[in-house]
Amino acid sequence: MARLAPAATAVMVLATIVSVAAGLQAINVTTMSFEEGYAPLFGHDNILRSADDRTVSLLLDRTTGSGFISSAMYQHGLFSASIKLPSDYTAGASSPSMLTSNADVFEKRHDELDFEFLGNIRGKPWRVQTNVYGNGSVSRGREERYVLPFDPTTEFHRYSILWTPSAVAFYVDDVPVREVRRSPAMGGDFPSKPMSLYATVWDASNWATSGGKYKVNYRYGPFVASFTDLALAGCRVDQPGIRMTMMPPAGEVESYRRCAAAEERLRAADVAVMTLEKQQAMRRFREQFMVYSYCYDTLRYPVPFPECDVVESERRRFKDSGHLRFALRRGQQRRRGGRHQGRRGTREHVVAS
Ligand SMILES: *[C@@H]1O[C@H](CO)[C@@H](O)[C@H](O)[C@H]1NC(C)=O
Ligand SMILES: *[C@@H]1O[C@H](CO)[C@@H](O)[C@H](O)[C@H]1NC(C)=O
Repeated sequence: MARLAPAATAVMVLATIVSVAAGLQAINVTTMSFEEGYAPLFGHDNILRSADDRTVSLLLDRTTGSGFISSAMYQHGLFSASIKLPSDYTAGASSPSMLTSNADVFEKRHDELDFEFLGNIRGKPWRVQTNVYGNGSVSRGREERYVLPFDPTTEFHRYSILWTPSAVAFYVDDVPVREVRRSPAMGGDFPSKPMSLYATVWDASNWATSGGKYKVNYRYGPFVASFTDLALAGCRVDQPGIRMTMMPPAGEVESYRRCAAAEERLRAADVAVMTLEKQQAMRRFREQFMVYSYCYDTLRYPVPFPECDVVESERRRFKDSGHLRFALRRGQQRRRGGRHQGRRGTREHVVAS
């Protein structure tokens, strides 16, 4: 990433957001208070709720990180929050994340969808990672990493995970940045069991930043990640609490039936319709900001995954390690953008179809 004076960065960032998100409809979510949908998970003293209970700040200090969880589990849904990351100068590896998981319930065959912010190094941009696990596929990480076209520490930006029976989509603000469509070849690797939403901040010194080269420097702490515009939509499948007894297959069948109406609403929502405009915006985002993809990491995965839609023109931009061949330079990226044809189908489709 080119180092730029702050003012120049702001102008370029603004121009970039406009070019990526142009014409996209805002994601329509019904927001709720913390009390309505969530509960503290750990580091209770480090969870600060605003007076109106609609903004939660998670602190990481010398003592502990902190986290919260949705009060219910959901069978498919839209999980969304606007997040402001710890400010710069935190020089280290605080690692805020928002993810869905059922690891507490299905220990050996858990499902998980991640948005993880990789700890910042002073002067370098935050990176965000998305990942998809299904049925305990922990040895098959499907990581992608992106730099963000804005400074995520200065204001709130919305991050959303959409999970339908047929696809998973990750959104940054109104732009879909990744879509994983379910295919029979994915088998159990596509998440299929009810999941809870987790939001956490913890000390990830061991791996998040350049393999642990940079430690959290608590001289600058505490680190605060704030969450607001909290939204959960989908089919609730249990009582409050993080511990749920192992669900028998019959129970899963019943929950699937109860979820039909919720899934229909999800399917009809604008967020689940991958319009041409959204597909194009997704392509532009990925061309400009994706810096790592498991699909191009042939050192780790000599045989590509079934859902990987490998496009030669895109492939050439990545090394065998899956990392981008060249450091991103925004102006250059934009000029290059026009050459690539859509890597996805060009027909509109419904994520939940
Ligand atoms: C947003 O969603 C709500 C229901 O959740 C619906 O009543 C409303 O009409 C939607 N707004 C738009 C602009 O689609
Ligand atoms: C999920 O994993 C379990 C145990 O590892 C296995 O028995 C089951 O067949 C898997 N389910 C799917 C849908 O692949």
